[in-house]
Amino acid sequence: MKLTLPTLQKMARNQEKFAALTCYDATFAAVLEQAGVDVLLVGDSLGNVLQGAETTLSVSLEDMIYHTRCVARSASHALIMTDMPFGSYQSSPQQAFANAARILAAGAHMVKIEGGQVMADTIHFLTQRGIPVCAHVGLTPQSIHQLGGYKLQGNNEKSAKQLLDDATALEQAGAGLVVLEVVPAKLAQAITQTLSIPTIGIGAGSHCSGQVLVLHDMLGLYQGKKPRFVKDFFADCQNIQQAIANYVVAVKTGQFPNEEHAF
Ligand code: KIV
Repeated sequence: MKLTLPTLQKMARNQEKFAALTCYDATFAAVLEQAGVDVLLVGDSLGNVLQGAETTLSVSLEDMIYHTRCVARSASHALIMTDMPFGSYQSSPQQAFANAARILAAGAHMVKIEGGQVMADTIHFLTQRGIPVCAHVGLTPQSIHQLGGYKLQGNNEKSAKQLLDDATALEQAGAGLVVLEVVPAKLAQAITQTLSIPTIGIGAGSHCSGQVLVLHDMLGLYQGKKPRFVKDFFADCQNIQQAIANYVVAVKTGQFPNEEHAF
C-alpha cells in the first residue's frame, strides 16, 4: 500500500514513529523500501555526498529532477520527498510553483523547502495548488553562510521562540510536515507538542514524530568527524540491508536517537 502524507499524519497522531532516510538512486530506493523506510528523501545533501561539494548551494534543479526520477523508477510504496534546491523557490511563489511542478512530474510526492516565516506565502501558494510541502527549519544548510557554520540552532530563549513561531506559521500556511534540524531536544519536543502536523528530527532528539538521517552518514561513510547526532548502523552489521533494517527498528521503537545523539 502506498504511503501518503495523510498516512504519516495518522501515524503521528497514533504516536507511531516513522523512519526516513535520504535516497538518491534506484538501487537504494529498493533496498530502503524493503527494509521498511517510510520516507525517501531525495535530499540536496547529494551535493555533498554524491558531488563532493562543501555546501548544498551548487545543486541544480536538473540534479534534483534526475535523482528524483531514479528513485521514483524503483520505489513502489514509500513517500518520495524531494528538496527544492537553492535558488529554485526563494524569489517568488510563482517561481516555486513552476519548479515544484517539475519535481512532482519527475515522481516526487512532496517537496521540501528551507526557511522560516518568510516562506509562509510560498507554502500557502503551493499547497493551495495541490503541491504538498514539508517545511525545514533550524539548521538550514542552504543558509550556511548566513548561519556561519553547521551549528546548533534555537539554543537561546529568543531563537527558540523564533523557531517555535516559524514552525507554527508554516503549519498555518499549509505545510504538511516540518523537518527540525540540529535543535535542542527540549525545543523539538515543545514544537512537536504544539503543532498538529508531524515533525521529522535530525539532531533534534527523540520526541519528534519521525527521524531522518543522511544515508551515507548512517552507513558510516561520513567524511571527517562523525556529527553527534549520527549513529553508524553499519558498524556492527554484516550487510547494508541489515544496517538499514536496524535503523528502521531503532527509530520505530524509540531507541534511536538517544541522549548521546541529542543536544
Ligand atoms: O538534504 C538533506 O539530506 C536534508 C536532510 C539533512 C534533512 O535536507
